[in-house]
Amino acid sequence: MEKLVIRGGRKLKGTLPVGSSKNTALPLMAASILAGGVTTLRHIPVLRDTQTFSHVLRVAGAFVDVEGHQLTIDATRIEFPEAPYELVKKLRASFYMLGALLGRCGRARVSLPGGCAWGPRPVNLHIEGIKALGATIDLDEGDIVATAPGRRLAGGSFALEPSSVGATVNILLAAVTAKGTSRIENAAIEPDVVVFCEMLKAMGARLAGVGTRTIEVEGVDSLTRVNFANCPDRIELGTFMIAAAISGTPGERVRLTNARADHLGEEFLHIFRRTGTECVIGDTTIDVTAPEVLQPVSVTTSIYPGFPTDLQAQWTVLLTQAHGTSTVTDTVYFDRFNHIPELNRMGVQARVENNTVTVKGGSVLKGARVMSTDLRASVSLVLAGMVAEGTTHIGRIYHLDRGYERLESKLAAAGIDIERVQYDEFAAPPSR
Ligand code: EPU
Repeated sequence: MEKLVIRGGRKLKGTLPVGSSKNTALPLMAASILAGGVTTLRHIPVLRDTQTFSHVLRVAGAFVDVEGHQLTIDATRIEFPEAPYELVKKLRASFYMLGALLGRCGRARVSLPGGCAWGPRPVNLHIEGIKALGATIDLDEGDIVATAPGRRLAGGSFALEPSSVGATVNILLAAVTAKGTSRIENAAIEPDVVVFCEMLKAMGARLAGVGTRTIEVEGVDSLTRVNFANCPDRIELGTFMIAAAISGTPGERVRLTNARADHLGEEFLHIFRRTGTECVIGDTTIDVTAPEVLQPVSVTTSIYPGFPTDLQAQWTVLLTQAHGTSTVTDTVYFDRFNHIPELNRMGVQARVENNTVTVKGGSVLKGARVMSTDLRASVSLVLAGMVAEGTTHIGRIYHLDRGYERLESKLAAAGIDIERVQYDEFAAPPSR
């Protein structure tokens, strides 16, 4: 297995390039099978999750060719409209194949995802939404089996409560080639969904209201192949902004490139500036200058344009460096706090009560052996390791590799003492 070893206390300097968006790449990849023929997707990050999704597409019968950050997906024949348990359990977003396969083949057998590392993550809205479009749905040995009567869905209306990125994507994948019109109320307006809809439109889908809470779809007979470019990753951008705020040299700017500031959401930018950190937004860059003293700013996560749940673990580390006590409340996922016991092992004074963490800032963090439990938890441990005294060893970084491409190379090039090494998790400790 691999781990990251970070010798803390070095300053972040220079430039950090932001990678391409994971959570946009996955729906784009799913959409590629709606068109017969060869779709080209550019700026697809090289990550475990995109590799798993390529596998999902291949299982359905597509040919997927990967050349660096470019994917060529030949979906001329989709003979096996299935996404099996072995892949869905590795990557929940494989469930997008329900809508994509129904839209393309009129039938789909897709394994139900179970819980996830931080608790239940239901897909009831995906299923109910697709049912509302006219699909018949059965549960067979843990798989959802969906069928469009007469091979084509009729179309229909569905209101999401709560609003959901995944359900919006799945319903749209199924609705764009339906016979009739469809409407999604309380649709997600996250940039991931908006960019995904841009690809659908480029393929010939008829959509209105993208980026608003009501999306209307006029079904079309078929869609065409496209050559489409993915957008930069907003969560990696936010993670790097936090990194610069806590480990940049006060008064010296760190430049983040390939940055889409408009994808961060107003709340994050507003709250980030309230910490006293300077942030200058350019066309494709953000310059972040750490302050002498970070102000503690409490946050509550919510859907876009609110403070993203995918940045709350990283924000908690920022708050450990601020002077004063503050809180992080997650209203999107109530149990997403697996990083706290690991951070406690590094001297972080934080405790969880219900869906709120109270963080006492200003204490000195100490390097320790810690364990990644999920993607965002693992990057919060990297941030903590960067500001801790001594050496931090972060195990099970396969979680990190799901969503951050070459993180340690980027940080090392910007002054951080970090390396990836092999280790044996089950090796006995040295005897005395
Ligand atoms: N929800 C339901 N029923 C459903 C679907 C969702 O009750 O059928 C609830 C969820 O429990 C949650 C809320 O709706 O409380 C919003 O969840 P959403 O469906 O929007 O999340 P998702 O689509 O499953 C995506 C990202 C997550 C990110 C969330 C929230 C992808 C592949 N995943 O998940 O990203 O946390 O939106 O923004 O796009 C990550 O990258 O680390 C990650 C977990």
